[in-house]
Amino acid sequence: MTHPTAIEPPDPVAPSGPAQGPSLSKAAFERIAQIARREAGLAINDGKSAMVRTRLARRLRAVGIDNFEGYCDLIEAPGNSELGHLISALTTNVSHFFRESHHFDFLRTEVVPRLRDNSKMGRKSMIWSAGCANGQEPYSIAMVLHEAGLPPSDVRILATDIDPVVVSTARRGRYPEHMTSGLTKEHRARFLDASEDGQSCISADLRPYILFNTLNLLDPWPMQKKFDAIFCRNVVIYFDKQTQSALWQRYGSMLHPNGWLFLGHSERIDAAAENLFEKSGITTYTRRGDPTSRKET
Ligand SMILES: C[S@@+](CC[C@H](N)C(=O)[O-])C[C@H]1O[C@@H](n2cnc3c(N)ncnc32)[C@H](O)[C@@H]1O
Repeated sequence: MTHPTAIEPPDPVAPSGPAQGPSLSKAAFERIAQIARREAGLAINDGKSAMVRTRLARRLRAVGIDNFEGYCDLIEAPGNSELGHLISALTTNVSHFFRESHHFDFLRTEVVPRLRDNSKMGRKSMIWSAGCANGQEPYSIAMVLHEAGLPPSDVRILATDIDPVVVSTARRGRYPEHMTSGLTKEHRARFLDASEDGQSCISADLRPYILFNTLNLLDPWPMQKKFDAIFCRNVVIYFDKQTQSALWQRYGSMLHPNGWLFLGHSERIDAAAENLFEKSGITTYTRRGDPTSRKET
């Protein structure tokens, strides 16, 4: 199995031509790469120096620092809040509604019936959108649940991302037209309200399903309850193999037996995780184990 390059091509809106701002020494580049690997599992190879310089120049301006060494000192200072911005600058937050729509078909046909059974047995179901970016993924999940007649009192979605800016956009749930792609006319009519500034607001019906929070997937996870399904799509492409491998084991421990793990189109679990998961669809895996042994933690 091959993994794609960890960092995607430069953002199409990034300035083209010679990079603006301070120069990036080899030592500073290596320090940034080390921080990104240590703190967020990102794999940044040597060929990415120009990309790192271009993308971080904006962050240096934003925090009022004129050299990369100073920027590294800032990130490593205890209690600073810059790490999320660094990771955001080095990765992409691009998402859209019903991205990789086959997962939402699977959610409707395979997952929803299980969630209904949970409700009948008086159990609350939990779904995690890990790496939710601007929120299109968890809102798409909420649309499916709402259409299936599952109320928010029966199913809760936890939506997390390392980047505080995207989490706040997601929580606000107000999008300009270009961020609403992927929605049908019917979904727009049913789940989007017009806002005064010409943007579209996620309807009040969907909001109670979702709890948004910042969370670095490499940090300890505060969640106490296990999940029925975890969506972690187009996130681990940035991670080195060791980080990915550790994550499959952690997801395995956070899923109920027979719970589902959904990955992005170019992501796969590794051989070591095959004792935990079996393939049940396109980049969709089922947690092995006896569902009757389900524990409520
Ligand atoms: C391309 S978006 C994927 C959005 C959505 N899951 C989808 O498939 O459309 C990748 C997201 O992963 C987040 N991310 C990257 N590293 C992370 C980490 N260590 N912990 C949590 N989120 C991370 C980024 O901030 C970004 O919002």
